[in-house]
Amino acid sequence: MMESHSLNWSDEWLLGYTPMDQEHEEFVKQIACMQQANETELLGLLDSFYLLAKQHFEAENNWMTQTQFPPRDCHIDEHNAVLRSIEEVRQLLSVGRVDVARSLVAELVNWFPGHATHLDSALAHWMFKQKNDGKPVVIRRGLNFEKTS
Ligand SMILES: [Fe+2]
Ligand SMILES: [Fe+2]
Repeated sequence: MMESHSLNWSDEWLLGYTPMDQEHEEFVKQIACMQQANETELLGLLDSFYLLAKQHFEAENNWMTQTQFPPRDCHIDEHNAVLRSIEEVRQLLSVGRVDVARSLVAELVNWFPGHATHLDSALAHWMFKQKNDGKPVVIRRGLNFEKTS
């Protein structure tokens, strides 16, 4: 049986850009829910997680393109790869492949810390500087810079 540690949200995950941190907290909590889910709960949870991930990745992709974040391409590619995996696994889970869904959840548990540390943290730092340096952010439509403290 595959060993899989459980994912728990804690402040060590905070990256310093509040809109991103709030979404990551929800992201981690939903992965943790899928880890604990039984077979009948898994499909519904995977569907909700897919919507959350899509919305979260789109937000990060928009921050990167709107501020011309230099290393954006590999970050966006990684988001797209994760969404494609979830879509494929969703199809398999709908025909009873619970094992594949469990493997995906275990992969997400292993994937998220590295993604957050290596890619999201650089973006969080960049966004924080955009917001606090007085440098103009070219397009602000759809972003909620002012709503967070
Ligand atoms: Fe993220
Ligand atoms: Fe990301």
